Amino acid sequence: MPLINVIRGERIEPAPFNVRTPYLKVPLWLVLLLWTVRGVWRLVLVYLRFWYVTVPLTGLTYLYFRFGWWGPGLALGVPAAGLGLWAVVDWRSCRRWAWWPTLSRWRRFRYRRTWKPAMVTAGLAVSFDGNTILPVLKKVRVSGGTDVLTVRMVTGQIPDDFAKVSERLTHTFAALNCRVSPGSRPDLVVLTMRRGDPLTAVVEPLPVTGVPDFTALPIGLREDGSVYELRLYGTQILVVGATGAGKGSVVWSIVRALAGGISAGLVQLWAFDPKGGMELGAGERLFAKFACTDFKAMADLLELALKTAQDRAARLRGHTRQHVASVTDPLIVIVIDELAALTAYITERQLKDRIKAALGLLLTQGRAVGVHVIGCLQDPRKEVLPFRNLFPTRIGLRLAEEPEVDLVLGDGMRDRGALCDRIPMSLPGVGFVVLDGDPTPARVRFSYLDDDDIASLADTYAFDGARVVDGEWA
Ligand SMILES: Nc1ncnc2c1ncn2[C@@H]1O[C@H](COP(=O)(O)OP(=O)(O)O)[C@@H](O)[C@H]1O
Ligand SMILES: [Mg+2]
Repeated sequence: MPLINVIRGERIEPAPFNVRTPYLKVPLWLVLLLWTVRGVWRLVLVYLRFWYVTVPLTGLTYLYFRFGWWGPGLALGVPAAGLGLWAVVDWRSCRRWAWWPTLSRWRRFRYRRTWKPAMVTAGLAVSFDGNTILPVLKKVRVSGGTDVLTVRMVTGQIPDDFAKVSERLTHTFAALNCRVSPGSRPDLVVLTMRRGDPLTAVVEPLPVTGVPDFTALPIGLREDGSVYELRLYGTQILVVGATGAGKGSVVWSIVRALAGGISAGLVQLWAFDPKGGMELGAGERLFAKFACTDFKAMADLLELALKTAQDRAARLRGHTRQHVASVTDPLIVIVIDELAALTAYITERQLKDRIKAALGLLLTQGRAVGVHVIGCLQDPRKEVLPFRNLFPTRIGLRLAEEPEVDLVLGDGMRDRGALCDRIPMSLPGVGFVVLDGDPTPARVRFSYLDDDDIASLADTYAFDGARVVDGEWA
């Protein structure tokens, strides 16, 4: 029979079932014991988690109780004195093996602290099935002014996802610049954060080696302080930069690296300086052929170079795939100070067509047979661009505008860190080297040869043979 609330006159529904919390009588000592065990367990965890702080502290405390202040004093003082001595005697190795690894740990700790918000705001966190998955910061390596972060991407991400937000990452981590490159495995990406600029000092001319190694010509310094070595074999080199960006220093650095081969007869430099000989004239005696005013002479020389390349190709076909320089068959390096002067500014139609045809063929056919071109370009205009793709190695110095970077260095290169438009006027000779097929631009400062350096180079390594200047025997 139903129950009725007599006051309200409503029917009372019976509860579906009765719940009564059971209670257990626990003695106070047990509660205290449990809490103590839990507290101790947490302490052990913290102790283990921060072992690199807690273990040394334990050791020092033990020494204190065992030997008084002498214990920890000696334990800290002797290694500190040793490190100090190491730093004074050989700072380079101390920096490499002690200072940078310590700094790496500290920086990793700092990056980890802001990692989550940084990834989320940069749009690199992936939400999936109600979970948020973050890229994992695997490793931080400090060297010179750069932090190199190795990051494991979330499944489905590619390095370009990081490249697109590199500017955001730069500011988030308070760096000057962030460069993105693929890691050693397909799931890794490497972020190179530049914190200071190791390239602010002018780079002195590098030592000249006897016979140059054409696969590794020393021409400047990288950000980590190592020497940048340019591979000349099998490539053509385009150097682009605004006026005063330091194109001259790239050319002279390469000439200097080749100088040992010039006097040995293994290398012939053919130099074109269409702006009247202002840039290359100072080292005229290094050049087997030199042209600065006569465009017809330049066209003749380009055709001669092309013929040489084709003869060599016919001779080498079937024997080898890479020409080896010798005194009878030297490496020919054609240096052109302003490419646009030959391909765009010449008014004489016929001459211009001859030059363009010869240059185009030379760029494609010369690479494997030891006929190389180093072309400088100030203004990446339309007429010159078709040639751009024929240069597998491109060097971008300071450029005036952002769009020019991808135009001359290749699509996506600015995103990958070749910020040529951000190089300040105060850093002439700083640039990015981009190699065909290598997604990572290298930031380099080229060595600077002043007039005296060039003069003494020309004295020591002058071309030993009959020279041709503007079509005349000199
Ligand atoms: N690698 C360098 N290091 C230091 N200073 C440089 C370097 N390259 C160029 N400079 C300075 O910049 C000036 C312009 O360089 P230059 O090579 O003539 O530029 P560009 O040929 O690109 O117009 C030089 O006179 C020199 O003072
Ligand atoms: Mg110049």
